[in-house]
Amino acid sequence: MADLQDQMKQAVAQAATEQIQSGMVVGLGSGSTAALMIQALGAKLQRGELTDITGVTTSFQGEVLAAELGIPLQSLNAVDRIDLAIDGADEVDPSFQLIKGGGACHVQEKLVAVRAKRFVVVVDSTKLVDTLNLGFLLPVEVLPGAWRQVQGQLREMGGDAQLRMAVKKAGPVVTDQGNLVLDVKFAGGIGNPEALEKDINNLPGVLENGLFVNLTDQVLVGEITGGVAGVRDLPKR
Ligand code: 5RP
Repeated sequence: MADLQDQMKQAVAQAATEQIQSGMVVGLGSGSTAALMIQALGAKLQRGELTDITGVTTSFQGEVLAAELGIPLQSLNAVDRIDLAIDGADEVDPSFQLIKGGGACHVQEKLVAVRAKRFVVVVDSTKLVDTLNLGFLLPVEVLPGAWRQVQGQLREMGGDAQLRMAVKKAGPVVTDQGNLVLDVKFAGGIGNPEALEKDINNLPGVLENGLFVNLTDQVLVGEITGGVAGVRDLPKR
């Protein structure tokens, strides 16, 4: 399965780079699928198929990778526009609402997605769901000094919030901004993503949550058909 999933990610990452044109300012997402897209973009630049690209990264991961590949980068503050942003997602529902933040990068990812004239999401078919949050937990970035308070307030809203713990490091995951992440489960899933996104962000101490509502222009889905990886342009419902 891992190999098939890699093939789906590779196919969709490659397909998304076809939308990048010379002269564009491009938002570069985070996670394993976005990393494949950044690699494909770097290869196109090296082959001279694209020129005059400016990347705006959404994480330390993307910044290091893009720099290694020689992709010119600018900060969000330095650019006057973002023409196109391409990023992965953890869950995608039929109306293109997303859960993101599996890599704890959703603060910068949302800043870039909101700014982009066009936001394209690249996922493998395992990410498609009917209802958000039945499978993947909703990430919420919180100030370190407020995590217990926010955890309690999320509980009052019906969410079971657990502090995300690090791997190969004692203690919690610390985000690129120096904050912590609560992963939240709402029983029965998220029925109204638009309202919940606002309600969670209204809690003092919350930097941003991983609900991406009404931001996505296109979802490209990598899938395996007849043993071969292909890409489907998901119709919006
Ligand atoms: C990181 C993200 C990623 O885009 C999301 O977790 C998907 O990652 P992957 O492509 O590795 O499945 O939101 O914060």
